[in-house]
Amino acid sequence: MNTSVRPVPDCVAQQKQWQALRDEAERIKAIPLAILCDEDLHRSTRYQIEDVGITLNYARQRVDHHTMDLLLNLAKTMQLPAAIDHFLRGGIVNSSERQPALHCDARAAYLSPDNPQSDFVRMDAMAKAIHNGEWLGYSGKPMEAIVHIGIGGSVLGVQLVVSALSDYHQSAVQVFFVSNVDYGDLASTLAQLNPQTTLFVVVSKSFTTAETQLNARSAREWLVSAAGRQASAEHIARHFIAVTAQPSIAASFDIAEENILPMGKEIGGRYSLWSAASLSAAVAVGMDHFRQFLQGAHMMDCHFHRTPLSENLPVILGLLSIWQSNFCDAHTQLILPYDYRLRYFPVYIQQVIMESNGKSVRHDGTLVPHTTAPAVWGEQGTNGQHSFHQWLHQGHVQAAIDFIVTLRDGYDQLEHRSAMVANCLAQSQCLMRGLNHDNVMALLHTQNKSKEECERLAPHLVAAGDRPSNLLVVERLTPNILGALAALYEHRVFVESVLWDINAFDQWGVEHGKHIARDIEKALQGSAAPCDAISRSVVERYRKQFSE
Ligand code: F6P
Repeated sequence: MNTSVRPVPDCVAQQKQWQALRDEAERIKAIPLAILCDEDLHRSTRYQIEDVGITLNYARQRVDHHTMDLLLNLAKTMQLPAAIDHFLRGGIVNSSERQPALHCDARAAYLSPDNPQSDFVRMDAMAKAIHNGEWLGYSGKPMEAIVHIGIGGSVLGVQLVVSALSDYHQSAVQVFFVSNVDYGDLASTLAQLNPQTTLFVVVSKSFTTAETQLNARSAREWLVSAAGRQASAEHIARHFIAVTAQPSIAASFDIAEENILPMGKEIGGRYSLWSAASLSAAVAVGMDHFRQFLQGAHMMDCHFHRTPLSENLPVILGLLSIWQSNFCDAHTQLILPYDYRLRYFPVYIQQVIMESNGKSVRHDGTLVPHTTAPAVWGEQGTNGQHSFHQWLHQGHVQAAIDFIVTLRDGYDQLEHRSAMVANCLAQSQCLMRGLNHDNVMALLHTQNKSKEECERLAPHLVAAGDRPSNLLVVERLTPNILGALAALYEHRVFVESVLWDINAFDQWGVEHGKHIARDIEKALQGSAAPCDAISRSVVERYRKQFSE
C-alpha cells in the first residue's frame, strides 16, 4: 500500500481558474450550439477520442478549443495527474476513513499470472462447482437457481453484469436478485423456485445491513420449513454462501466457514463488483468471460493512468460533467443506453456517482462553494423517448445527457438494431438543433393546414434545441467492453472528486437514516422508542391496525 500524501491543490490558482471558466461560460453560451457545430467542418473528429473499444464523441457539447484549454488547466491546477497516480498506486484517497481504494488493484492482481488474487481464485472454484453440478443441496441435487441477496453496491454491479452479458450465459443455473426488504421482493422470487435446488448468495460488505440480514433470515426460514426433518443444519448450510468483509458476523449467521468468501476492506461497497461479490455473475457467464470483463476494466485503468489529459476518456468525461453542472446549470445527468442489455447501467452508475460525490464538504471539512454531483437517472432507449424525453426537448431544465449506443447486438435482426442506432442519433441531433418557427411552419404547410391553424400550432411545436449531449459508441457489447465502460464511469467520478476536492470514497450521509429506521421499527413493535410527532401519527395508525 502506498501511503504518500494526497496532492493538495493551490487555492488561489484554483479560484482564478473557476472565474475564468465562469467568464468562458458567458462567452460561449452566446453562440448557438448548431452554429458551433456547423462552423467547424472537422468538429466531429476534433472532439472525439477513442480507446479500449469506446468512442466518446463530444462534438455536441457547448465547448470549443478555448473552453477545453481552460478545463484542462483547471485539471492541472488541481493536480489531477498526480491525484490519479496516487489513487492507482494505492495511496490514501478516502481521507475520512484513512483508507486507499483498491478495486483497481483487485482486478489487476487477479489478471497477473504471478499473483492471482486469492478471493477470485476461491470464487472461481465455487463458481465451477456450482456450474458443473458438483455443488449439491440437502437432497443431493445440483443447483438450478442462485438467489443473490444484497442491496446497493452489493447487488447493482452484479445485476448489471448478469443482464448485460446475457449473450455469454453459459450456465443452466438461473440467477435471481433480491434487494428490497419489502417481503414482496423475496416472496415473488421464491415462488418460482425449488428449495432443494436453490442456493442463496448473501452479499454484504458489512454484514450488518438490515435489509440483507432480514431477507437472508427469511430465505433460511423458507428453506428450513421446506426441508422439514429431511435436512440437518449442516445440510442447510450447503444452501448459503456469504461474501463479506466481516466473516465472523457471517459465521454467527450459521453460514459454514468454508462457504464464506472474503471481500477486501479497501474495496468500497459500490465497487463490490470487483470482488468475490460477483460470484453469481461468474456462475452465469463463466469464469473466462468474467476474466475478460476484469481485463476490460484493467485496460481502462491503464488508459486512465497513462494517457495525456486531453486524450483521456474518464478525464474528458469528468471535465465535461463539471463544465455542464458547475458552469452551464445542468444539475441533472441522464444516462441513456440504446441497448436493452444495458438497462441496469443507469441505476448502477447512479449509485457510483451520487453516493461517491453527493457531498458538500471538501477533504479538509470546509464547505464546497458550488454544487457537486448532479441527480443521476436514466432509462434504456427507446423506452425513455415515450416518457420523459418530452421534458428534455421542450422543458425548462438543462440536463447533462450521455447517449450510449451499441452498433451490433447478438441477434440477426438488423432492422431492430438500425432502429436503435437511428433513434439514438436522432435524439441527440434534435436536442442540439431543435426545430425553429420557420421549420415548424414549413412542416405544417405540408399538412395542408390553414395559415391561422399553422400560426396557432407553431408555438407548441417549436423546440429551442441548443441542448448538448455526449455520444458514446461501442461496436459490440463484449465482456471486455462492459468492464471498460464501468471503469470509465468510475474514473470519471474520481476525476470530478479531485476537481471538487471531495472524498469520493465515504458515504456518511446514509448512516443517520439507518439508526432512525431502527428506532421507528421499535416504535412500530410497541416499545416507546423516540420518533417525531409526524412519524408518530403514522406509527399509531399502523399499530391500531394490528390491535383491531
Ligand atoms: O447504505 C449504503 C451502503 O453502505 C452502500 O454503500 C453499500 O453499497 C450498501 O449500503 C450495502 O452495504 P453492505 O454491502 O455492507 O450490505
